[in-house]
Amino acid sequence: MSQVYEALRKAQGQAEDPLSASANGRLARPEPALQEVPVDEVDLQFARRIALSSDPHGLGADRFRLLRMRLRELAGAGKLKTLLVTSPLPQEGKSTVAMNLATVLAEHGRRNVLLVDADLHHSSVAHDLGLPPRPGLAECIETGADPLSAVRRLQPLAWYVLQSGTTQGNPADLFHAEALSPLLARLSLHFDWILLDGPPVIPLTDAISLSRLVDAALLVARVGQTPREALDKSISLIGRGSVLGIVLNGVEGLNRLYSYNYGRYYSRNGSGKQAGDTNRKD
Ligand SMILES: Nc1ncnc2c1ncn2[C@@H]1O[C@H](COP(=O)(O)OP(=O)(O)O)[C@@H](O)[C@H]1O
Ligand SMILES: [Mg+2]
Repeated sequence: MSQVYEALRKAQGQAEDPLSASANGRLARPEPALQEVPVDEVDLQFARRIALSSDPHGLGADRFRLLRMRLRELAGAGKLKTLLVTSPLPQEGKSTVAMNLATVLAEHGRRNVLLVDADLHHSSVAHDLGLPPRPGLAECIETGADPLSAVRRLQPLAWYVLQSGTTQGNPADLFHAEALSPLLARLSLHFDWILLDGPPVIPLTDAISLSRLVDAALLVARVGQTPREALDKSISLIGRGSVLGIVLNGVEGLNRLYSYNYGRYYSRNGSGKQAGDTNRKD
């Protein structure tokens, strides 16, 4: 049994259903500023795409625990807090992966995790979770409002969301460093992880702009759908050094509903080596 698998087993031993109470029956209290954040109750019928919720003991949920383990290692080793989740093209599973990742990283509320719906062209997080449309990222950028005032805590998912909001202008014009850097810096004060559910890389410049403002990007590729050339082009547009890994969404046979795979595809130093398939049978 490999060392990696041994470490994975230990991590799994500690992992719990994110929607149940923690081992000592108490959930961690959010930090003071977050205690004031309004709470939205999510009907879990709307959270069916979240494997950690719909099938916490399935292999899809297990893959996200593996991804969490890798991210924790990297976070422990250096600065890793803001992550862009993107993919080459639309409909490849960015929002699905981002919501699953938020759930697994939140650890029942022991970690403060914020998911920002940063796809202003095709935002979906609020709709997917059955939440009403509200002002969010777009309005905060346009008006300079405190982004924390637009954040909601989601129960029982135990993570926070900043919805996309709406803009009358071109979304691409909003994603400039002068506006977004201070906004992310302000949010960073309160959260352990900030996930940006971004637009796709190829048809738009937004994802490339966002990738310059975060610590790293995760690329989602959908098996049988994402062309290899589109993946390569996305990596080169974002920059190999900024692509932390690739989540393969929809791996057949791993899970009946949702399957995820993670490979440390390109290293942070840009060596460009493929780490290989984590869809082991051992
Ligand atoms: N592994 C999967 N298996 C089946 N359907 C999936 C899977 N991943 C995503 N979907 C579905 O595909 C559609 C697009 O997913 P979404 O996460 O919104 O993609 P994106 O954010 O990249 O546009 C949604 O209807 C979602 O439920
Ligand atoms: Mg999406």
